[in-house]
Amino acid sequence: MKKVRIGIFGTNRGSDYISALLANNADIVALCDKDEFWLNKAKAMLGDDVACYASFDEFIEHPMDAVLLANYFNEHAPFAARCLKKGIHVLSECTAAGTMADCVALVRAAEKSKAKYMLCENYPFMKFNREIKRVCDGGTLGKIIYAEGEYNHPFAGGDAKAARRYKPFEKHWRNRNPRCYYLTHSLAPIMYATGANPIRVTAMPMFYPVQDPNALYSSFCGDRLAIITTLNDDDSVFKFTGTAGYGGGGNSYRVCGINGQVENLRGTGGQIMLRYNKWTIPEGVEQRETQYMPSWNHPKEELIEKEGHGGGDFLVIEEFLNCILEDRKPDFDVYFATRMSAVAILAHRSLLERGVPYDVPDFRKEEDRVKWEKDTLSPYYGPNGEEPTLPCCSHTDFKPMDSQWNAYLEAIKTRE
Ligand SMILES: NC(=O)c1ccc[n+]([C@@H]2O[C@H](COP(=O)([O-])OP(=O)(O)OC[C@H]3O[C@@H](n4cnc5c(N)ncnc54)[C@H](O)[C@@H]3O)[C@@H](O)[C@H]2O)c1
Repeated sequence: MKKVRIGIFGTNRGSDYISALLANNADIVALCDKDEFWLNKAKAMLGDDVACYASFDEFIEHPMDAVLLANYFNEHAPFAARCLKKGIHVLSECTAAGTMADCVALVRAAEKSKAKYMLCENYPFMKFNREIKRVCDGGTLGKIIYAEGEYNHPFAGGDAKAARRYKPFEKHWRNRNPRCYYLTHSLAPIMYATGANPIRVTAMPMFYPVQDPNALYSSFCGDRLAIITTLNDDDSVFKFTGTAGYGGGGNSYRVCGINGQVENLRGTGGQIMLRYNKWTIPEGVEQRETQYMPSWNHPKEELIEKEGHGGGDFLVIEEFLNCILEDRKPDFDVYFATRMSAVAILAHRSLLERGVPYDVPDFRKEEDRVKWEKDTLSPYYGPNGEEPTLPCCSHTDFKPMDSQWNAYLEAIKTRE
């Protein structure tokens, strides 16, 4: 079978995918990172044959069929557009685009290109999320009217190693990441399972910054979570988080139809609970409620389980490569991806305005593109250190205490 020649741009998270790419028969031909620390780590995993670049301009000239974008969270879209323009397939880490203008530009670039664009969103491929989708597709829940998604990933205060790994410099995107922006891990699984698309969004913050003055703390967002709600194009409603940080952490999802509901049960290591009403139990099902451990229903079970994010990293790579080899449109295409980015950006605007709702554009429509094509507002620093143009926290003047910030500066003086 033909091997897809792929390059990895951003070799911090990018190198997590090396084993999944090789297990899926891809040929990793080039790496690019301006930070030698991460570039050398990735190179050590692959050997001397792989071409290494510090500059994207040189990297993109390397002969290859596809690029995995794992550069900074809010900077994927312009690089994706450049690859698409050259006919190079793109698998982009989340989020698809950091601004509304970038969403529009990315959609336009994808429409002009023969190459494929896919969002590298791995959470829908976790075992329990695959099962939730399988149940939804089976139709026994009846019309789906409501779903929840929770991506709850608290960071331990005082963790210097995590600061170096995840926020290696002061203007890093993670130091100004609003709670709504990183929402694909909570939203994509329920969009994928139900097929519903958000059309209107509102969000509420829960502000409670780290209180300990001795903690290593560097985020300019003191919100612990945002609760986002959307009205969807099929009249259903979603309630979900972006990246939240509270309680004991964990990911949970629940989809409710008029006849029944399915969810992954918290604290059970991935069990599913499927429940109907007494009068809506489908034929062939004996009990009203069942709890069970789902199966992969996939011939490569052993390989899947070796990879990160509960096997999601293997399956998202497999899907992308198969889309190329079979000339198939990815489910997580540019419209799916930019709709989620738009929900994230507009949820944050809603949060800043104490819950004012926003209509989510349909980027297939030119009138919606024109409305947003010049909107470059961003809570992050720009690629050349430009100042943020939006606050990142619901309390707009919030910043870490000097002692917390100084502990962070001390931690990032060294590498791992
Ligand atoms: N799907 C998941 O489960 C998951 C997990 C972790 C990270 N991510 C995503 O992966 C992406 C990268 O995150 P990360 O954790 O690796 O941290 P990061 O954002 O700090 O790393 C980005 C890397 O890209 C390099 N880079 C950025 N711009 C560059 C440029 N112009 N030229 C050359 N190199 C450049 C940086 O030097 C850095 O090594 C983010 O979008 C993040 O959301 C996804």
